[in-house]
Amino acid sequence: MVAFKLLSLATLVAAAAAQNATIRYMPFGDSITEIICWRAKLWDKLQTTEWKNVDFVGSGKTENNCKNTKYDRDNEGHSGFLAIDIANKKQLVGWLQKNPADVITMHLGTNDIVQQNKAVADIITAFSTLVQVMRDSNPKMKIVVAQIIPMGMGSYNTKIQDLNKQIVPWAQSKNSTNSPIWVVDQYTGFSGSSDLRDGVHPNDSGDTKMMNVWYPALINAFSVVQKSRVQEREEMEARAVKFTA
Ligand SMILES: *[C@@H]1O[C@H](CO)[C@@H](O)[C@H](O)[C@H]1NC(C)=O
Ligand SMILES: *[C@@H]1O[C@H](CO)[C@@H](O)[C@H](O)[C@H]1NC(C)=O
Ligand SMILES: *[C@@H]1O[C@H](CO)[C@@H](O)[C@H](O)[C@H]1NC(C)=O
Repeated sequence: MVAFKLLSLATLVAAAAAQNATIRYMPFGDSITEIICWRAKLWDKLQTTEWKNVDFVGSGKTENNCKNTKYDRDNEGHSGFLAIDIANKKQLVGWLQKNPADVITMHLGTNDIVQQNKAVADIITAFSTLVQVMRDSNPKMKIVVAQIIPMGMGSYNTKIQDLNKQIVPWAQSKNSTNSPIWVVDQYTGFSGSSDLRDGVHPNDSGDTKMMNVWYPALINAFSVVQKSRVQEREEMEARAVKFTA
């Protein structure tokens, strides 16, 4: 009887601690996640909210002259990488092992289209593999997937729009209660001329636009993580009460 009581007390303490644990967010993608300043702007904006303690995670710490000494630079943005390669080489498996996350954003596909003219269907297949890797790492991963920004050079935007169009039904087909996928539109309203510094990467106005698109989706994802932790705690407490009664 005493042992049961101790056990349930330990469970309660663990549940309370889990509820309080820092939420971990991984910005995942290519150079449009690595060598940009939307992460700095996002971190700044979060400092004014209840989510200021959210921990950005990832193996990279690239700074892009964002003139911000304070922000959490940790990210999993890899310049030049293709979604198809990351999926085939299983790279995200190790990245998430090193830096587990509760919430992840994914902006990928640009290099698949621009560098190698990959088929949209193959990019979508890679996205499915990546989502499975995320869920193998954390069955409750909250996933925010971007419809990607336009390019300011070449004639890639038709294919980019084709990919963006297919992301919606794909995400719906992969959606789940434990691990929801939210699609955000980084394309609409983003100018291939005045929001890019080099035809590919956002400049200051582009960074602000991207941040403003990620922000509400992330706030929502963080609150879903928090709610499910509270719910788990309540369920554990209910079980503990039954145990001791
Ligand atoms: C959880 O956080 C609250 C507010 O920051 C604090 O008062 C409380 O002691 C924390 N509980 C645990 C178990 O860490
Ligand atoms: C997935 O489900 C969540 C609710 O859990 C919903 O908010 C979201 O819009 C859905 N995603 C898609 C792509 O329909
Ligand atoms: C962004 O870059 C474009 C040209 O690449 C320029 O026309 C525009 O003024 C820049 N805007 C900002 C806010 O840096």
